[in-house]
Amino acid sequence: MVVEAMSPYWGEHWGNPSSRENCLNLHASATISLARDKLSTLLKTPQKRLIFTSGATEANNLALLGHARAKAFETGSPGHLITLSTEHHAVIEPLRQLKREGFRITELNPEKDGIVSLENLVESFEKDTFLVSVMVANNEIGVLQPIKEIASICKSRGITFHTDAAQGFGNIPIEIDQLGADLFSLSGHKIYGPKGIGLLIISEDCIIQPLQWGGNQETGLRAGTLPVPLVVGLTKAIEIALKQLDKNYQILKTLRNKLWSGLNLQIPGLILNGSLEQRLPNNLNFTIEGVSGSLLHKKLRPYISCSSGSACNNGSPSHVLMSIGRTLEEAKSSLRLSLGRETTFKDVEIAIERISKVVFDLRKS
Ligand SMILES: Cc1ncc(COP(=O)(O)O)c(C=O)c1O
Repeated sequence: MVVEAMSPYWGEHWGNPSSRENCLNLHASATISLARDKLSTLLKTPQKRLIFTSGATEANNLALLGHARAKAFETGSPGHLITLSTEHHAVIEPLRQLKREGFRITELNPEKDGIVSLENLVESFEKDTFLVSVMVANNEIGVLQPIKEIASICKSRGITFHTDAAQGFGNIPIEIDQLGADLFSLSGHKIYGPKGIGLLIISEDCIIQPLQWGGNQETGLRAGTLPVPLVVGLTKAIEIALKQLDKNYQILKTLRNKLWSGLNLQIPGLILNGSLEQRLPNNLNFTIEGVSGSLLHKKLRPYISCSSGSACNNGSPSHVLMSIGRTLEEAKSSLRLSLGRETTFKDVEIAIERISKVVFDLRKS
């Protein structure tokens, strides 16, 4: 359905939405307006604060760099920001860039279950803390952070709260209008939408400096011609994800729990990474004691698309697993399994059987 919705905009409707000088361009411009209108209703958020980006990476960069620089410009000095050591690189790296620019950054370690302690968070506030960035759900271990509580703690202190919702949005219920986040990033391709598009949702009074200049698109916050087919695809993907959320949540959670209990029955010595209760319904991440990580992945690859870390880790051992106390060896012999809308009960049975056999063979050899 997403591909079908995008299809006319790759061909006959190829106009430029930034120009209104002819019918084709007017059509493109109206398409963007309609998409923005629809998104505003679906996400219950004002239209003018929805900024289309190329994905969650850009949304995070615009949120963090854009807000921090605007604040420093306003106050005359760089201040202090807080995040978690388990955040995605698309948050950690822009913050490290801010450090090079003179800001002070605290990277808090979460508890052993992957979830931040609110007490530790509050203790880490400094006089000039102005921004906290904590993700909705971790991309590797799937744990859910208490973002509503964090948003409220930040609000009571006048601190801006950013959340990277790339993994959580569309998989768990999130009322963006009730949440209290000032900056909210999401990505198209995490919800079966196209790659190369995302959104930054900015609260009414949150100041942002643009990262790029050129045209006056996106209220001057993100110059550049919008990719009409991708905007249409993202809108459709969000519509479907929200419509099917409850149903998909229940199915995925049942399948994931079946996978976890089945693996535990067959393989002794599995260590779950991250809380099971506060977790995305489609995520499993565990360490298998006593097997070589590289052999494990090599033997499983022909049968199962699995990983040990994140696509953005460049092959290094997972910083998330190390942050929750796994050793280097344990991090390497960990498996991250994600279930999707097309995963069936049979797939789960096959995965249990294959993984158990590979682990049995490796432990024997
Ligand atoms: C939590 C999180 N943030 C950001 C990103 C980057 O998103 P994008 O590929 O849309 O830039 C990802 C993608 O893996 C992610 O999982």
